[in-house]
Amino acid sequence: MISLKAYAKINLFLDIASLRTDGYHDIVSFMQTVSLADTVVLEPCDRITVSGNPAVTESSDLTYRAAEAFFGYTGIRAGVKITLSKRIPIQGGLAGGSADAAAVLRGLDRMYNTALNERCLAEIGLSVGSDVPFCVTGGSRLAYGRGEILMPAPPLFRVGIVIVASRSGCSTPLQFAALDGIHGADGYSPDTARLEALCDAVGNKDFTALCQNMYNIFENTEGYDRATANILKRAGAEGVLLSGSGGSVFGLFESPEAAVRAAGELNGSGLRAFACEPVNNYS
Ligand code: C5P
Repeated sequence: MISLKAYAKINLFLDIASLRTDGYHDIVSFMQTVSLADTVVLEPCDRITVSGNPAVTESSDLTYRAAEAFFGYTGIRAGVKITLSKRIPIQGGLAGGSADAAAVLRGLDRMYNTALNERCLAEIGLSVGSDVPFCVTGGSRLAYGRGEILMPAPPLFRVGIVIVASRSGCSTPLQFAALDGIHGADGYSPDTARLEALCDAVGNKDFTALCQNMYNIFENTEGYDRATANILKRAGAEGVLLSGSGGSVFGLFESPEAAVRAAGELNGSGLRAFACEPVNNYS
């Protein structure tokens, strides 16, 4: 039996360069792994099965597709029993499903001693979803293309993060389509100067500049829950941003302790809030 943590991600920066001819968008993003995590347990089995808490629909689960892709790529004729304990909010812009899929790829590589390198696992992962390559790699990364072109970024220093789950999930394709409606197919021009300023802030451990330069183009859509963003600000978050294509909103606090206190207060007022920290040593 192999048990793995599948960490959520937030985007400190997310902009779009262009709508591609294949229907995907080229993104420009600063992605960061955080300590909010699902647990994925793998056991040898003669077929692929997925069960979990809360219950998962096997056929649509990304972990099932990840296992299929792994066995397809390696030619190994086997299965795996996948059991998920989910904490990461679903359809929340936190790459929860992708994190679980990446954990399955890493776990199967260990279980079958295939010694596939990160690049290879990321390539298999891309056939499952655009965020899976980042979830295989993790840490702090700049992401381009569909999200699979990953470059080093300065590691995010120790800050407190509070993630608030949205009351209703956001559909990624519908969110991208909404942006196309606003910007038009040719109307994207990513704010690379702001991304540079954000990277400098992270590199210099400048908390104020980090908060000032965070950006997410999806905040222009109706999926952005401004009320929750304002609650986070009132709870003391210095920077507040939508994560991914939505709908979770996160706030940055100068210390993890302050984030834990704020999450406690927000949970007490009926929101689903999670205090977490950046994860940079990823294995
Ligand atoms: O790759 P994934 O299956 O997660 O993408 C789901 C949908 O989100 C795609 O079908 C596409 O509509 C949209 N998407 C996009 N550009 C990206 C990633 C996702 O348009 N870079």
